[in-house]
Amino acid sequence: MSTDTTPEIRLAGLRKSFGDLEVLRGIDLEVTKGQVVCVIGPSGSGKSTLLRCVNLLEQPSAGTVTVGGVELTDPDADLDRERRRIGMVFQQFNLFGHLSVLDNVALPQRRVLGTDRATAERVARDNLARVGLADKASAFPAQLSGGQQQRAAIARALAMGPEVMLFDEPTSALDPELVGDVLAVMRSLAEEGMTMLVVTHEMSFAREVADRVVFMDGGHVVEDGPARQVIGDPRHERTRGFLARVLDPAAAPLEAGAD
Ligand SMILES: Nc1ncnc2c1ncn2[C@@H]1O[C@H](COP(=O)(O)OP(=O)(O)O)[C@@H](O)[C@H]1O
Ligand SMILES: [Mg+2]
Repeated sequence: MSTDTTPEIRLAGLRKSFGDLEVLRGIDLEVTKGQVVCVIGPSGSGKSTLLRCVNLLEQPSAGTVTVGGVELTDPDADLDRERRRIGMVFQQFNLFGHLSVLDNVALPQRRVLGTDRATAERVARDNLARVGLADKASAFPAQLSGGQQQRAAIARALAMGPEVMLFDEPTSALDPELVGDVLAVMRSLAEEGMTMLVVTHEMSFAREVADRVVFMDGGHVVEDGPARQVIGDPRHERTRGFLARVLDPAAAPLEAGAD
């Protein structure tokens, strides 16, 4: 096997329970280097838990998580070191309100990587430019729109030099007119070859940018295939029902058990 086909992210037999509630029920998922995989599925199906298991923000109950060839679920893994290779962007941007945008992006490099101030600020400016915020370096988060704050959060993650990026509904908290700018940044990252695992309800983004779409329901991967096929011609009834509701919420009846 050539290194090009080695999965950058590999989840095998992944399970996660909270008390009696089994949220992930045996997930097998691979993302190869440079691939963009979108995860879709109803609320409560385990999408966020899945992402949080990839960087071990949640400790899986069973199964393995391997990123860049290193098994993170190995008890001997140096999680602090391995997590630096994994960038994460949340629905809520989690910027520090008392710090400028520049400091928000520079500080984690200094704290976590030990980068000197001048280098951290240069890397921060480079990444702010990358997300279209070169002119907002000295602004404070409250002075930015939600879309700009989310782009700053993406710059903060990128400034750490991650090998893979995880996105958990990055546009769900945004006013509709601000979604496009964030998706455009994510699209450009994908075009640069970033390996990305993205939980999203943005079906046009998934169809156009993702290599694969994974439909999750009830802690299982129900369907995993090429984006256009899963969205355009899903094999499973549950995928069809979910897509009907997402693509046309007013027209489709709710299925029992979905929310
Ligand atoms: N820390 C936790 N403790 C207990 N239950 C949790 C925790 N995190 C998530 N859950 C439960 O796990 C299920 C899946 O949640 P989540 O992964 O957030 O789903 P999704 O992101 O698909 O909406 C939900 O029933 C949720 O209430
Ligand atoms: Mg979620």
